[in-house]
Amino acid sequence: MNCVRGELISVFVAGTGSKLWEVPTASFTSSSNLSESLQWEQDCQYLHLQDRVRITADIPPRLDGTWVSTRCEVRPGPEFLTRSYTFHPSRHFQALQHYYTDSGCEDPAYSLMIRGRLRLRQASWITRGGTETEHHISKAGIVVHSLAAKQRLASSLPPTCVGLTLGRVVPGKLYELYNTRAGRGCLAALGFSMIEMGLIRVETQHHSHGGKVQELFLGDVHTDWTQRTQYRPTGYQQPLQNAMHHIHPCPVCALVYRSSEQRPPVLPRRPAAPLSLASRWVSQRCETRPNVLFLTRDFTFNPDQHAWDGIYRHYSDPACSQPTFTLRASGHYAQGNPSTKVSGATEFVFKVTQVRVTAAEESTAKLLNGTRPGKCGRAGSWEVGVEQDLTPTDGCTLLGIKLPHKEYELFKTELDHRKHPLLFIGERPTDGSSPDRPQKRPTSFQAPMVLCSGGETQPSHRYGSGFNSKQVQLAASGTKRLAQLVLLVLGSVLCSWFCVY
Ligand SMILES: *[C@@H]1O[C@H](CO)[C@@H](O)[C@H](O)[C@H]1NC(C)=O
Ligand SMILES: *[C@@H]1O[C@H](CO)[C@@H](O)[C@H](O)[C@H]1NC(C)=O
Repeated sequence: MNCVRGELISVFVAGTGSKLWEVPTASFTSSSNLSESLQWEQDCQYLHLQDRVRITADIPPRLDGTWVSTRCEVRPGPEFLTRSYTFHPSRHFQALQHYYTDSGCEDPAYSLMIRGRLRLRQASWITRGGTETEHHISKAGIVVHSLAAKQRLASSLPPTCVGLTLGRVVPGKLYELYNTRAGRGCLAALGFSMIEMGLIRVETQHHSHGGKVQELFLGDVHTDWTQRTQYRPTGYQQPLQNAMHHIHPCPVCALVYRSSEQRPPVLPRRPAAPLSLASRWVSQRCETRPNVLFLTRDFTFNPDQHAWDGIYRHYSDPACSQPTFTLRASGHYAQGNPSTKVSGATEFVFKVTQVRVTAAEESTAKLLNGTRPGKCGRAGSWEVGVEQDLTPTDGCTLLGIKLPHKEYELFKTELDHRKHPLLFIGERPTDGSSPDRPQKRPTSFQAPMVLCSGGETQPSHRYGSGFNSKQVQLAASGTKRLAQLVLLVLGSVLCSWFCVY
């Protein structure tokens, strides 16, 4: 499980057994030791071949140690980076971010070294399973790695930032960019914030052979650049893995762990995997989306007929144990050009022509049942467990689904540590809108899906259209409080489900 064991032991021994975080127990109340058990089983041959994994998530989470990127990360923009964050028992953290010019993280542009303090506040009531924190940055420094990178920075950074006068910057040297007295504008010019620290979650995978993998989920980054320094995260980015307990083998983990601001990790070139969508792809885990959405995805592509089919199973909890509704969407797709923004990725256009919905619980059924005739399937005939086709009503106003509907997409495939293919589908706009114009095409990705070996190939697929949480909440008014709560969850779910694929 551990490719950098030797170097890490000292760090960990120091923290073992001590009380690491001041947790205001009042805020955590009943959940002060909530160890959720997340058992996720997918009807997918690929996953059945894997060893059984039990996942737990402690609330409050234990953060001590170093957490590293497992691959070249892509943020909206796009931005390409690797991260190595270290949390100390003293509540101080040190975050190292390396930025690159390319989607393979082979050409480092600059690195940021951020120091600060973090305090756990309370279990999030918006994003169940997450913990809200407060952070304070005390210092940020930058190391520019090349003259070309310096020139690019010159167009965004003010000419002078605390310890740095851009014209005189020498590559490889650390300059102060921010301290508690000055430099705010310099960080803002980089689109930088540590708002991701505002929402955290740690999951531990217990493998049947005794090993464990620990993952740190930090808040998501808004897809709209102008919002990213103000946005309060409600979803997560792809997780960092604990440098002691990570998936094995993970050559990237070791490189990132050993890096410093002066020596950024240069990731090895990966052979380009040809993009082949054929067959069936499923979520690796219960996924959390911005705006409080818990779901799993299950897609089948039929390239010969350019047809797709997507099943989105929605839940009200972060363990994906309490189903709320299932949505089956299908339609056609067209593969476009290789992306010029994210090299290695490919542009697609998806068309959703059919959406079918099944309510998995009474409150969802009631909600859908109460819609006006002609607006959302057959009004008055919604029942738990009975699927309804939304095509005759051109979608569902309540769910914000309009049919037919078109979306502009970005896909890429990669091989995981076991050389199994992973499929990355574009991240949905954080505001819940739909990428229905080429300008709104994603520049970053959702959690990767895994290929089911021997998956059946049936055409059909996904997407809804924009969804409007106001409408959902409106529909709830006058119903009892429980229903409203469900609505709130459902509303966002729908908002994002749309967003989901
Ligand atoms: C929570 O309780 C379980 C068993 O009761 C224990 O193993 C675990 O260490 C506890 N977690 C925390 C954060 O105290
Ligand atoms: C849906 O509405 C019909 C007609 O008003 C009613 O008979 C039925 O019981 C409702 N179903 C649910 C699940 O509320």
